[in-house]
Amino acid sequence: MTVLQVLKFPNPVLKRKSALVTQFDAALRELAEAMLETMYVEGGIGLAAVQVGQLKRMIVVDARDGVGEDEAERRNPYFYVNPLILESEGETVSEEGCLSVVEFTADITRAEKVLLEYEDLAGETHQEALEGIKAICVQHEIDHTKGKLFIDHLPLIKRQMVKKRLAKLARSA
Ligand code: NI
Repeated sequence: MTVLQVLKFPNPVLKRKSALVTQFDAALRELAEAMLETMYVEGGIGLAAVQVGQLKRMIVVDARDGVGEDEAERRNPYFYVNPLILESEGETVSEEGCLSVVEFTADITRAEKVLLEYEDLAGETHQEALEGIKAICVQHEIDHTKGKLFIDHLPLIKRQMVKKRLAKLARSA
């Protein structure tokens, strides 16, 4: 089991754009598995490769929407490579947090439903219609691949305040 270090705000790498994945090889699959393990250890429902310092357009998501008694049984992981939102519909507000943004959550507005196009770990292209928490999570993770954090959705004044506070917190940690 490989657990990777999750970069935290204000690490500048988190602001960088990830590159299209073109090599669907063993290294990509190993990274995907390590990202998933890291996400479980950290208790998250999604993780983008940039959060572990890899500027690749790959995200892992697990809304724990499987069937079972406990958390481990409900695990239902998905790997999305080069994810792209083709269509979005509706609006929904929910409280978001992020493994890269410690001790802060905020209500963020997202599309309610999205049509996602992505490649799997073998490079095959698929489409999937998403709604609920998984749709929200995928939008949050795709933002990461564009160098954007959920706090970047806050109104300007609040965003500046929050970023200042989080940067101070990170310095004193
Ligand atoms: Ni995040």
